[in-house]
Amino acid sequence: MKLNKYYDDLKDSYLFHTVAVKTAEYAKKNPDKKIIKLGIGDVTRPLPAACVRAMKEACDEQLTVAGFRGYGPYEGFDFLRGAISDYYAGRGTKVGAHEIYVSDGAKSDIGNILDLFDRGNTVLVPDPVYPVYVDTNVMCGRKVIYAESNEENGFLPAPDDSVSADLIYICSPNNPTGAAYTRDALAEWVKYARSRGAIILYDAAYEAFITDGALARSIYEIDGARECAIEFCSFSKNAGFTGERCGYCVLPDELAAEGKKLADMWLRRQSTRYNGAPYIIQRGAAAAFTAEGQAQIKENLDYYKKNADMIGKCLDSLGIYYTGGVNSPYIWLKCPDDMGSWEFFDLLLNECQVVGTPGEGFGKCGKGFFRLTSFNTHENTAEAVERIKARFGK
Ligand code: MLT
Repeated sequence: MKLNKYYDDLKDSYLFHTVAVKTAEYAKKNPDKKIIKLGIGDVTRPLPAACVRAMKEACDEQLTVAGFRGYGPYEGFDFLRGAISDYYAGRGTKVGAHEIYVSDGAKSDIGNILDLFDRGNTVLVPDPVYPVYVDTNVMCGRKVIYAESNEENGFLPAPDDSVSADLIYICSPNNPTGAAYTRDALAEWVKYARSRGAIILYDAAYEAFITDGALARSIYEIDGARECAIEFCSFSKNAGFTGERCGYCVLPDELAAEGKKLADMWLRRQSTRYNGAPYIIQRGAAAAFTAEGQAQIKENLDYYKKNADMIGKCLDSLGIYYTGGVNSPYIWLKCPDDMGSWEFFDLLLNECQVVGTPGEGFGKCGKGFFRLTSFNTHENTAEAVERIKARFGK
């Protein structure tokens, strides 16, 4: 027996796990301190009432012979796939219900999709980056190269024709930087991918935060994207399903390589390894698209945006550079006084009892940067902001 040697190439621990362990150690040593967590992007608002009601009704259905559900369809139930397709249509984007595949979340899909691709492919990821894109490729020995994001390019790298890549990850609005591509900028990536037969893996988990009309909410708003892109989306950051687990990906009819439709391969993969997201959860997810569900989601997103605004105003008053926080729940800031990311993490934890995520954990271009989320409560965010102001105000 031999173990997967590529695990040796991974960092010891997943970024958010390291942050959680450090935070827990501090809490154990300082039981009297109130720690405010603005680290992992986990939501705090209760679920939309429309979703909870739909899940309760779906639970009650299980008490009856007629309503009981066993295994569901591998692709997801038609009622949810149809609701997602209508959601795209409502924004003028054509995505057929049959092109949508429901799952237990975008994170799983983003890792699982790699089963479709040869290990010899080269993967291009932005740096800094959501660690899942890198780690899932490292785990199977795929070569990963980086597109540098920095202050100069507004943390939105453009394609470089001299770089060759087979799989390209794009996350917009971006995790961790909060920066988001305009349609014109995204069109450059679609052109680049098509010119070399590459596939874009487009993470749209934060699309619901976009308010700026020039920004793309789906890669399928771009001509030619149906031929070269898979889109991933989630119910976590809009409907607050981080605990419920539900997401979906889109594999358009036109997406094919070597004479094979990628959608067919994906269904083959999913039906072999997965039995589908729970019916009750899918009922809850579908309710997110009702008028009531959408209004309740907007209320929650507005709530988080207020937090982002509080954090942004605090950083403005301290003269600290940052991106994000407007079309995104994340605020990506430059550590004050030229501090390193982990140094700032320790200082913020020890002196302000505020937890964030060190930018360096997202890649080498994150060195000297730090991510805060707007997902906590108003009260906690306001308190964190006051503590930061008190510590860093001149
Ligand atoms: C984050 O904090 O980056 C996210 O919560 C991670 C995730 O969605 O898996």
